[in-house]
Amino acid sequence: MKVNRAASVNGSVKLPGDKSISHRAAMFAAIAEGTTRIENFATSADCASTIECFRGLGVRIEREGNTVTVAGVGKTGLLAPSQPLDCGNSGTTMRLISGILAGQNFESTLTGDDSLQSRPMKRVIAPLGLMGSVIHSNEGKAPLTINGKNPLIAIEYQPPVASAQIKSCVLLAGLNASGVTTIIEPVQTRDHTERMLEWFGVNVPIERGENGARISVAGDAKLTARDLIVPSDISSAAFFMVAAACLAGSDIVMPNVGLNPSRRAVLDVMIGLGADIELSESRETCNEPVAEVRVKGGIGAPTISNVLRGDIIANLIDEVPILAVLGTQLEDGIEIRDASELRVKESDRITSVVENLRRMGAAVTEFPDGLRVERSDLKGAEIDSHHDHRISMAFAIAGLFATGETTIHGAEAADVSFPGFFEILSSVVR
Ligand code: S3P
Repeated sequence: MKVNRAASVNGSVKLPGDKSISHRAAMFAAIAEGTTRIENFATSADCASTIECFRGLGVRIEREGNTVTVAGVGKTGLLAPSQPLDCGNSGTTMRLISGILAGQNFESTLTGDDSLQSRPMKRVIAPLGLMGSVIHSNEGKAPLTINGKNPLIAIEYQPPVASAQIKSCVLLAGLNASGVTTIIEPVQTRDHTERMLEWFGVNVPIERGENGARISVAGDAKLTARDLIVPSDISSAAFFMVAAACLAGSDIVMPNVGLNPSRRAVLDVMIGLGADIELSESRETCNEPVAEVRVKGGIGAPTISNVLRGDIIANLIDEVPILAVLGTQLEDGIEIRDASELRVKESDRITSVVENLRRMGAAVTEFPDGLRVERSDLKGAEIDSHHDHRISMAFAIAGLFATGETTIHGAEAADVSFPGFFEILSSVVR
């Protein structure tokens, strides 16, 4: 894909449904009792992987455009799959489904593409093992073969890294365990699982204390089908937010963006760094806050430090690549630390960002846990997406700021979270 320098981006952008929320909607609807209709379901390839996995587990799922109808089978009603379940590129699919499969009375295998087969799975194998599940893996990586025949026992568990995927996996296993399962979370991660379980009628008590939160589910809880509407994805919005903020004369409007407090840090950070962002029509849809986001071009004086580190990182983990690109356009640049989790995402995102920014002529320092980007004049370059959707899209935006032409190799990776990204981008570029 070729990208050229742009003067501004203008118009209204309809974003795909939120990927994290769509995964959970399909999964929870599948193990609920009754039929759930999900509107604005994510168009992403990752969420299609989740649907295919549940079809493989005997769940009837119909899809018409962005509306998905799931005939729930109840939390122990899944059927043994006749072949391995393919999670594609999707870590969320594999890690969350593991929690569900640990409580089913059959054996099943989860696999995925090369990237997913290289990502760490011990983080879910370990807690599920403590609950009594027997999982065979390729030295802590996929394929995972999960034997769900042992009865699960509730545990109290503090994940070794701040991860909504680990939290969600254990809570989902907890729905089929004897007793009350509790996750201890010192640093808050995205809480879509907690909110959506409540939407499906499950009580999820959360005790907040000095050392973080204790989040619990009881093994006798059941999910009851309930229609829902998925908000648009703030992680997809972030690309257009940065494009608009950095190009004077821009004006981009994005309706129905999910603004869950555990996801919206990218927006608050951009406002703090001087971006002109306005919210309107704030409301709640299906336990998730949403609003219209409007971004106008031009960056004013910052009111926060340009060094991002500590607890906030978990809430903007998927937006680090595009924030690094933003850094090239900020007077004082940007520094992002405490983000070593990025090394085990769809690609090593620290390396992918550093390498590609350098190709564009940016001054960048790499740290084991992050990077520092100086304000830089970018020039068009050959970009390698590393088959990573967020790298493909972040560097398409960088290309709008660069002199000359930028070529994104492996640009189609964008489909993993945002099919149509390049068409929408070219429709708003001036
Ligand atoms: C996700 C959680 C995050 C995020 C991923 C989606 C989720 O991963 O990076 O894109 O839907 O729970 P971790 O929880 O492993 O940090």
